[in-house]
Parts: sequence; C-alpha cells; structure tokens
Amino acid sequence: PYPVYEKLRKDDPVFKVMFPQGEFGWIISRYEDAVQVLKDSRFSKDMIKRYGAEHQSIFSSNMLFSDPPDHRRLRGLVQKAFTPKLVADMRSHIQSIADTLLDHLPSQETMNLIDDFAFPLPIIVISEILGVPTEDRDKFRMWSNTVIDASTAKSPELFEQHEREFTEYLTAWFAKVRKDPGQDLISQLVIAEEAGEQLTEKELLGVVSLLIIAGHETTVNLIGNGILALLEHPEQRDLLIQQPELIHQAIEEMLRYNGPVEFSTSRWASEDIEFRGQRIAKGEMVIVALDSANRDEEQFKDPKVFDITREKSAHLAFGKGIHLCLGAPLARLEGEIAVSTLLNRFPNMRLQADVDTLEWRPGMIVRGVKEIPVQLK
Ligand code: HEM
Repeated sequence: PYPVYEKLRKDDPVFKVMFPQGEFGWIISRYEDAVQVLKDSRFSKDMIKRYGAEHQSIFSSNMLFSDPPDHRRLRGLVQKAFTPKLVADMRSHIQSIADTLLDHLPSQETMNLIDDFAFPLPIIVISEILGVPTEDRDKFRMWSNTVIDASTAKSPELFEQHEREFTEYLTAWFAKVRKDPGQDLISQLVIAEEAGEQLTEKELLGVVSLLIIAGHETTVNLIGNGILALLEHPEQRDLLIQQPELIHQAIEEMLRYNGPVEFSTSRWASEDIEFRGQRIAKGEMVIVALDSANRDEEQFKDPKVFDITREKSAHLAFGKGIHLCLGAPLARLEGEIAVSTLLNRFPNMRLQADVDTLEWRPGMIVRGVKEIPVQLK
C-alpha cells in the first residue's frame, strides 16, 4: 500500500472515497492531520450513535467504540491491569513462555514464525491475564480472524455464526467465573458487573472480546513484521545482535516501519467539519491511515529507510489521544522479549522463501503476513 499512500499524501491528503457499503468517507494520510483527527472530539467513535442499537454487535460494545463518559468508565475498569509497572513485573514470566515455545518447536531446523511463535506467545499471555484456558486459543483465533477480516468476508452468515459461538463461549465462561472467581481480570470484571452500575453484561462481553481480539491480531504482527524487516535488512539484524541494548529503539522502528494496525482507526464526524479545505459532512466516516502517517516525509527523515538507531520517532502505531492503545506497554514488552530471544537463539535465522511470495492477510485493518517460513540455523 505504501506507494498509494505516498501519492495520497502528496496529492490528496484528505481524500474522499466511496466505501464498499456504498457510503462516502475520507482517508487521512498525513502525519500532522492524523494527529489532529485523533485528538479532535468532534470525530466520534460511538458506533451505536452512528448506526443505531440494532446494528450493535458484541464487538462494538466496548471502549474502542465509545466516547466519553462511557469510554472513560470502560477504560478505567481494565486500565489497572495494564499499567507499565504491572506489565514490567510480567517480564520473567513472558520470557519463560518464549523459551518454552522455542524449546518445543516441532523442529530446531525450520519453523513457521507466525504459527509456531509469534501467534502463541501473545495469546498465551492475554489468556493468562484474562484467566481463560490457553488450550482454546485456536477457537479464539478463528473467531477473532473472522471479526478482523469482516470487511472482506464473503459470508455475513459466517460472521454471525462466529459472533454467536464467541458470545456463547464467553457467557458460559462468565457463569463459571461467577461461581468461583479467581484473581484474573475476568473475575474482577464479573465482580464489578455484579456490584451494579459499573458495566452491563453486554459491555462485559464487549470488553473481554476486545481484549482477546487485540491480543490476537496485533502483537503477532509486530513480531512477524518486525522479524521480517530484520531479515530483509541483515545489516540491521547484525547491528542488533552486536548491540542488544538497541532493542527498545528497534521495536519502535518496527512499529513505525510496518505497523500492525494499518487502517482501522475509523471515526465519524458528529457535525459538519471543515478540515484542510474539505467539508466533511455530519455522519461521514474518517479513516486515519496510521501506516501512511508513519512514513510521512514531513515528519520522518528518510521514512522508507528501516533504521533501528532512529532517534525517538513518535510514530502513531498505537494511535493517539484518548483511545491510545491500552495494551501498548504489554505489546512493547512482548515484542522486545520475542525479538531478542529469537536473535539470541538463532542468530543465523533466515527466510526460507522469497519475500515477494509471502502472502499478506486480507483486509485493510491489520497488516501482517500469513506465514513466514524460516531456516533457523
Ligand atoms: C487501541 C494498536 C496491542 C488493547 C488501539 C489503537 C491502536 C492500537 C492503533 C487505537 C485505535 C483507535 O484510536 O481507533 C495496537 C498495536 C498493538 C496493540 C499496534 C501491538 C503491537 C494491544 C494489546 C492489547 C490492546 C496486546 C490488549 C491487552 C487495546 C485496547 C484499545 C486499543 C483495549 C482501546 C483503547 C481505547 O479505546 O481507549 N490499539 N494495539 N492492544 N488497544 Fe491496542
């Protein structure tokens, strides 16, 4: 998509498009404009207000698709579980999950980086935080893939079926937790729900499914896209092996260079808005192309260059403003551990296929490769 984004930034930075559903919307491709839209409360995320309660799905009853004050209330309920301090305390545990996964690879010669490592690592972590069984991860993956690929899904029936199955699974799980709550995040949320006003059953479903989906669809691609960038730039990989302390900067550069969330930061205009000489009418959708903003030549020097020594880059991979990614500290830590551990164990790791033959996930929401076959030694 990058050449298209480059052209948009140059010629049509606030670009009017017709979406497949037959609605008009706008694509914001420049960094400065992206920041402005993400911080402007006239651009709403409340999808119930926009489309009506009858179009509400469990996947939209959450903080990501609400405005203040609901947003503040819902975010407040889970924020405590993701503070930088709590996340930092998980380091040694996440390290042991990474080590165990690599100890038990089907082969020590080759692997599929996504299925064998990048996918299971974050999902085991989020499952443990939530308290759901990690054995069910293939089901979670199927359900969350359906939601994320919904824009390209051929069958609305499949979407509905998976939404139903996901809801039934979680509802049964909540009933179990109510009888015997533990220390996990779902137990805390269930107790909050039972205590009354704080959140409804529907919001409970919404928040938990959001965390499961966020835990599945993003960090896996930070690890996948990040390792891919290193393998494509062996001099950067060698530099990181020689100077492991560059890992923090390297992760930020991976997020900037090939961020996992490409396009999903949609909002709608809650009133008519004049923006950069365009008139965005009330109700129209506005999509911020984060991966475009992150390669804006006005903001980043040589944006097409992958440079893990880049000084503080202020990329937008985690968004900006009140919806700034809640899981960012966790995603960064998982990314650091995953990349460092892989390089430590397999410094000679290389791609087993031509980069051009790798297949990218369909849809515009997440940016990630389906499979990355690598030679480990
Ligand atoms: C929100 C990216 C990992 C939970 C967001 C947003 C972005 C994003 C761009 C804002 C969307 C918008 O403004 O419309 C990413 C990336 C990740 C990542 C690139 C990995 C590299 C995670 C993880 C979790 C998580 C691991 C869960 C623990 C959330 C939640 C929100 C969010 C709950 C909604 C926050 C709100 O609306 O206030 N993420 N995310 N994310 N993310 Fe992440």
